[in-house]
Amino acid sequence: MTDLRILLATPHAGYEQRVRQAFGGLLNGDLRRWDAALGAVSPDGLLRQLSDAQPDVVAIGPGLDLDTALAMAAQLEQDRPEISVLLISETEPALWERAMRAGIRDVLDPSAVDADVRAAFDRALHVAEGRRRNLVGVPDAAPSGRIITVLSPKGGSGKTTLASNLAVGLALAEPNKVAIVDLDLQFGDVSSALRMNPETSIVDAVRAPGHQDAMTLKTFLTAHPSGLWALCGPDAPAEGELVTAEQAKAVVQTLAGEFRYVVVDTCAGLTEHTLSVLEVSTDLILMCAMDVLSVRSLRKEVDALEQLGMTHQRRHFVINRADSKVGLDIKDVEATVGQPVDVAVSSSRVVPLSMNQGSPVVESEPRSQVAKQFTSLVHKFAEQPQQSGFSLLRRSGR
Ligand SMILES: Nc1ncnc2c1ncn2[C@@H]1O[C@H](COP(=O)(O)OP(=O)(O)OP(=O)(O)O)[C@@H](O)[C@H]1O
Ligand SMILES: [Mg+2]
Repeated sequence: MTDLRILLATPHAGYEQRVRQAFGGLLNGDLRRWDAALGAVSPDGLLRQLSDAQPDVVAIGPGLDLDTALAMAAQLEQDRPEISVLLISETEPALWERAMRAGIRDVLDPSAVDADVRAAFDRALHVAEGRRRNLVGVPDAAPSGRIITVLSPKGGSGKTTLASNLAVGLALAEPNKVAIVDLDLQFGDVSSALRMNPETSIVDAVRAPGHQDAMTLKTFLTAHPSGLWALCGPDAPAEGELVTAEQAKAVVQTLAGEFRYVVVDTCAGLTEHTLSVLEVSTDLILMCAMDVLSVRSLRKEVDALEQLGMTHQRRHFVINRADSKVGLDIKDVEATVGQPVDVAVSSSRVVPLSMNQGSPVVESEPRSQVAKQFTSLVHKFAEQPQQSGFSLLRRSGR
């Protein structure tokens, strides 16, 4: 096995020299071009190229037609998610959306100057490093449920609304297989959104001796009529400080050993607790409202996640109040955030009404348009294959 870092999937012989030049001779054996003796540059040839090497980055192009390049990227995204993929292609408006859907994180123009080439490859290497660290960092535990964390940089963007609708929607389909955790430790309102009067909270849970044990932890959950189980937040904001970030992560992980889905509602932004839980999350739901400030803040949050190496989670993007007439177009939002929109939720008065009654729209108003939109997200999760843990992706020797 070689210690290759970058594989150039291109028929273009001169491009290797371009990249080497951009790195000022630093790359040596870390860089390799597609071995033409093993077949043409194509999705079929990828596995042969990767059979004796585990690169961190595969750069696809230049000199390939876009369909071939995107098919290769999609194959890598599916089979080798630890590899970070860079597309070398002339950028055109329609390209970004297709590239994003194929799991490509960055597009570099073939005629870019040295500094830009170096910066794009450095970014891709950095992302790969974070992915590998996260994938290797997850212990070889028993098969684990999906941990779905709802994130938004701004308060009031609809995180609790989404988390409670998703959790109840999943629980209605799979009773007793879903837990929700209120990680908004100061002002969490999952219990009101679900009209529950919890006798115990996450604070009681982490104080209890033996709370790492799943059976003990389950005694701190509150049952919801839909078949959902909730670990609620404390009554008093000050009590939230009694839960450490490590404890929050451990609790969520333990629940994932017992439930097929653990939905985590968070407070605005990237707090220490949220980041800690993200380390073990399999899925991330990014949320923002349809206004310029929210969209830009979300872009900054996505950049921060990249810098922190939080790139191993499957990402989903939900826009809330998507029909607000504010002159923004979904395509602009996708381009700014760098992520295709999975579900656009309309603005509707049935949402606050249902929140006030403590009954998410998926159960109280299932025929409403918003309930159908939340349900389409539920189906997305229910349809995707269960993750079998990350241990298969463990890399040796690093
Ligand atoms: N699609 C929607 N249409 C109408 N109202 C909505 C919609 N989504 C959320 N709301 C309302 O917006 C308010 C804020 O929603 P929510 O509490 O879910 O946001 P949040 O992101 O959890 O806020 P916080 O950061 O304070 O926890 C609530 O009153 C909710 O009913
Ligand atoms: Mg909330």
